Amino acid sequence: MRLEEQIKNIADREQIPVVLKQHNLFNKVCEVGVNVGNQFRYYYSFNPEILVGVDLFKGKWGRKIKDLSVYMETIQKDCPKSILEKGISWKIANKYQDNYFDFVYIDANHKYKSIKKDLDAWFPKVKKGGVLAGHDYTARRGYGVIQAVTKFAAKYNCPVYLTTSGTLTQKPWKSWIIVV
Ligand SMILES: C[S@@+](CC[C@H](N)C(=O)[O-])C[C@H]1O[C@@H](n2cnc3c(N)ncnc32)[C@H](O)[C@@H]1O
Repeated sequence: MRLEEQIKNIADREQIPVVLKQHNLFNKVCEVGVNVGNQFRYYYSFNPEILVGVDLFKGKWGRKIKDLSVYMETIQKDCPKSILEKGISWKIANKYQDNYFDFVYIDANHKYKSIKKDLDAWFPKVKKGGVLAGHDYTARRGYGVIQAVTKFAAKYNCPVYLTTSGTLTQKPWKSWIIVV
């Protein structure tokens, strides 16, 4: 089946690597916004050739995490072949060549200005025919994801696909998916 046809029917973000693997598009992968590494470990289990994780890896996160920096070490231990990049996501993008990744998943700062910067920075890093996606396609909590992704897709004239439901654990939060 064509990639786009399969993407249209993806229910939750956990299925994205399953579909991409079938199209040989899960070899060079980057997650932008790793946090404690839940999804990152899941990606690692698919054994990509290169898995990059980008995060500030510092400070408080939400109500529960007092210091995100301690998680970087445990994630690296659990995913020894992965590359963890500590820093501001759109700046880290400059370290990578254009057309490098098969797949980039954006899930860092969800404010409009930040998502826009991440889209501008990471889109060129995905090879033609690869996939750029991200989490939390919502305007709730003041998130600017819908606005930024919609404007970006209009500029490049590319369709935006949405997962048909949220994640397995966070039902309302859909992912957006663009084929580059
Ligand atoms: C929603 S969490 C990521 C969750 C992860 N993708 C998952 O599903 O398991 C967002 C993460 O983005 C990081 N972050 C926020 N703004 C960032 C930025 N400008 N650059 C790098 N990381 C950032 C935060 O430190 C936080 O860990």
